[in-house]
Amino acid sequence: MGRHWADFQYEIYLHGMSGAVPRLPTDLTRLEALTEQRLGPGPVGYVAGAAGEGSTMRANRAALDRRRIVPRLLRDVRDRDLSVEVLGRRLPAPVALAPVGVLSILHPDAEPAAARAAAAQGVPYILSSASSTPMEQVAEAMGDAERWFQLYWAKDRDVTRSFLQRARAAGFGVLVVTLDTPLLGWRPRDLDRGYLPFLHGVGTANYFSDPAFRAGLAKPVHEDPDAAVMHFVGMFADPGKTWPDLAFLRENWDGPIVLKGVLHPDDARLAADAGMDGVVVSNHGGRQVAGAVGAADALPRIAAAVGDRISVLFDSGVRTGDDVFKALALGARAVLLGRPYAYGLALDGQAGVEHVVRCLLAEFDLTLALSGHARPGTVSPADILEESG
Ligand code: FNR
Repeated sequence: MGRHWADFQYEIYLHGMSGAVPRLPTDLTRLEALTEQRLGPGPVGYVAGAAGEGSTMRANRAALDRRRIVPRLLRDVRDRDLSVEVLGRRLPAPVALAPVGVLSILHPDAEPAAARAAAAQGVPYILSSASSTPMEQVAEAMGDAERWFQLYWAKDRDVTRSFLQRARAAGFGVLVVTLDTPLLGWRPRDLDRGYLPFLHGVGTANYFSDPAFRAGLAKPVHEDPDAAVMHFVGMFADPGKTWPDLAFLRENWDGPIVLKGVLHPDDARLAADAGMDGVVVSNHGGRQVAGAVGAADALPRIAAAVGDRISVLFDSGVRTGDDVFKALALGARAVLLGRPYAYGLALDGQAGVEHVVRCLLAEFDLTLALSGHARPGTVSPADILEESG
């Protein structure tokens, strides 16, 4: 029997008897509006904003909303186990925290707080290349808890190689390579304010602390920070990469590699053919291509194409426990949670992130049980209906 995440609700009701209520809402869709009230417009726009006029971000929600769960009855759901096997690891639940960069714009405790929250709840934490804290410091905050490293694949091979070596040495077990960001998408909320944290040297900690990166600078970072920022901007991403380049990553990383940002089944097949271990079906939360397919609409075709060969993970639009259920029904093995935990961090630091994880998993546990399932593995396409129109 696994942990009964649903018991969180009794804990809340019990506290309620002495007048204490949760510090943050338990409906996680309310966190964005609260963050909008409390944080400056620059940081909040950076997190809540999307590409273009937001149609992809809306499509993510619509694609999940349109799918409706069809609960089953009388199926003995007393002893539930939410754990799943993903990429050779047993996770306590089919959820990990998505890579979200520059968390120091939301809370001074930044990535170490989010990482500690993930560790405390036992869910993997995926650290962004663009974190505001060097990866070694984040690793130290986590003890030996499960952590994965997200790579923004730099133009400079030595920097990429150095990142991979550092991540391995710091105990990051899975490499998540984000491929949907060879250029930054058109983001009006940030453009209208001229707000891009990296240009202020925020979200560059892994680069500024890297020996291979520093070797390319004429002067140390503190002596000429602007030159360091420009060096970062010049190498951060590489729109020239193609599928054969993946061999370089395979040679330099001996653990599982997952490609993030896959939306077309042919790209998923190419990933499997290239010896990759998984894909994350994702449109980066609608931040890259406006007018793109809702991620949950892309998921079934990709699961059908490669689900029996490699691990299919999912993100973009997950806000509630029933979203997790729907993603599994559409063929995902696990989901990544993005903006909601960033808002939890903004509103209440580590405790806020833990609150978000516990709410999501309590609601997922209840959704599973109330729909007639004792474990994620039995959820199938037959458990959802797609509304027309
Ligand atoms: C992101 N995301 C992201 N992805 C990535 O691979 N590396 C990164 O550094 C970041 N940074 C980042 C910052 C912010 C503020 C956001 C909101 C998102 C994308 C993230 O991993 C994930 O794909 C999306 O957050 C999923 O969409 P939702 O569910 O959060 O809307």
